[in-house]
Amino acid sequence: MTKNTSNSSSTNTGTKAYRGEILHFLADPAKVSEEESYQYFEDGLLVIKNGLVEAVGNAHELLETLSADISVTQYDNGLIMPGFIDTHVHYPQAEMIASYGEQLLEWLENYTFPEEKQFSDIEHGKRVAEFFLTQLLDAGTTTALVFGTVHKESVEAFFTIAQQKKLRMICGKVLMNQNCPDDLQDTTESGYTDSKALIEKWHNTDRLLYAVTPRFAPTCSTEQLNKAGELLKEFPDVYMHTHLSENKDEIAWVSELFPDSDGYLDVYDKSSLLGRRSVFAHGVHLHDSECQRLSDTNSAVAFCPTSNLFLGSGCFNLKQAEEFDFNVGLGTDIGAGTSFSMLTTLNEGYKTQQLRGDKLSPFKSFYLATLGGAVALDLEGTIGNFSKGAEADFIVLDYQATPLLDRRIKRCKTLTEKLFALSILGDDRHVKATHIMGERI
Ligand code: GUN
Ligand code: ZN
Repeated sequence: MTKNTSNSSSTNTGTKAYRGEILHFLADPAKVSEEESYQYFEDGLLVIKNGLVEAVGNAHELLETLSADISVTQYDNGLIMPGFIDTHVHYPQAEMIASYGEQLLEWLENYTFPEEKQFSDIEHGKRVAEFFLTQLLDAGTTTALVFGTVHKESVEAFFTIAQQKKLRMICGKVLMNQNCPDDLQDTTESGYTDSKALIEKWHNTDRLLYAVTPRFAPTCSTEQLNKAGELLKEFPDVYMHTHLSENKDEIAWVSELFPDSDGYLDVYDKSSLLGRRSVFAHGVHLHDSECQRLSDTNSAVAFCPTSNLFLGSGCFNLKQAEEFDFNVGLGTDIGAGTSFSMLTTLNEGYKTQQLRGDKLSPFKSFYLATLGGAVALDLEGTIGNFSKGAEADFIVLDYQATPLLDRRIKRCKTLTEKLFALSILGDDRHVKATHIMGERI
């Protein structure tokens, strides 16, 4: 599938090019016409200089502009696109995926909290982080917004491994000081101090970014949520990452615990936790007023279809999100989610919208998995598409990796059909290559 042509006397060692079918997005297909939302080159060229995108376009046009000694790698029978972006996932839950039979609150008690206790041991964290990041990369995901555990060692471990792999990753230590096992609790003060130390050490170190991470309203006291808001004021470019309105029993519990709040989102709003770098996982049961507030504050929601189906939480209302125009990314939410693959996530996402009687077009799907994720993470221009100067994290999807997709693709007459087949039949087997800052890994 690959062919490399290069000249050993190259003077352009920092520049390389990849030739093949190329797709990337410029805008949300729900906001502009579908044709304006993407660029597609049947025989395209992606030119990379020192790990950043230099140019993308038709191969025959761009090749003329390049010096003859630049290495050109050809990818046939596949699609080159930006790496996938997972906007909500828990690395410590990688090995407890597929735990049987419960909805959110019981699932947390029975499986999740016991699993997370092991992450006080930094060496355990490093082993799981290594496994987790390998799974992500194999599935074509190059950036993720990641939960650690309550232990600062869990984040230390994660960033250490992500740094070795030169990845753009966002992670944070979980804040949780009530309504969970005693030996998994921090305090308002220790949560603040540990988070601050991690921010000072890791935020903006290489490609790593920090997220202040209150687990969810039930496990955080008002004081702890307020302290998280203070951290965001002290470090305005760090992220805020939490869960919101995932499950009906959870929502009822939040209204008991916070009787003075006007709904679930308002609990976070009262502590100044909404904003451009705030990402709320799930939002399956949002009121219109909450959608308006998410939109007004430029906050984002991570749509996690495999998790929402697995835990029986419900089907995210993507149409409502579009109507209120707040940012949406896609999340696997491993270990409640059931696959590391964004392609599988698209497949399940499509079905959740079918159950609602709504459509999820293949262009919107691939937008959400790439540029939509970058917008949700406030990283547009840095990752998510092939705009000039963007970091060259990209993948090659192989149509021929399975006989079934191969046969189905051969019948497709349009790009729309091809993308749809890829989103329904594709998975990690179809990720032929993953490139980080231009380098194949
Ligand atoms: N809400 C609070 N914690 C969690 C978690 O670990 N997973 C999911 N899906 N929801 C949560
Ligand atoms: Zn989650």
